[in-house]
Amino acid sequence: MQRPYVIDEMISAKTIAARVEELCREIHDEFNGTDKLIVVGLLRGSFVFIADLVRELDLPVEVDFLEASSYGDGMESSREVRILKDLRGAIEGRDVLVVEDIVDTGFTLSHVIGLLKSRGPARMKSIALLDKPTRREVPIKADWTGFEILDEFVVGYGIDYAQRNRNLGFIGKVRFTD
Ligand code: IMP
Repeated sequence: MQRPYVIDEMISAKTIAARVEELCREIHDEFNGTDKLIVVGLLRGSFVFIADLVRELDLPVEVDFLEASSYGDGMESSREVRILKDLRGAIEGRDVLVVEDIVDTGFTLSHVIGLLKSRGPARMKSIALLDKPTRREVPIKADWTGFEILDEFVVGYGIDYAQRNRNLGFIGKVRFTD
């Protein structure tokens, strides 16, 4: 049984869109001139963010996805990262931008970056929509971060709680009401 909860809006759809635009200007400056960029989304939480990012990015780009396990259906990181779905294509010699929804303990992003680096990309950068720096257990920071947030459980804009609420246009905080 799920505990009853409400969702309090924390970051509006408008604020997210403005930040995505800003981030894309910086990503564009970093990758301008390349025709070998591949944007790798970490499923499932990054699917909305990556859709907005690539549409805002005026560069030739390929998209691929990778799924790593971390939270399951709960609210705590398992700390043990498993690859549930690997990339379809090779990334050797490519410019890679890894897109994560939230960097929490840091286990997922550091594991994925380590794995992808071992495949010999030419350049490797990462971006996270949200960062919870106070939760970090592995010293890693994405090259770009949308918003830093406190230690709160959030949903929306692709991010779930027990697979629900990914379809919200804003990012909200889960508040239990029992
Ligand atoms: P990490 O390995 O602890 O950094 O976990 C990162 C992953 O945990 C993210 O990609 C999310 O899938 C999940 N996660 C972390 N915080 C939250 C949250 O507040 N809401 C939903 N999922 C979260």
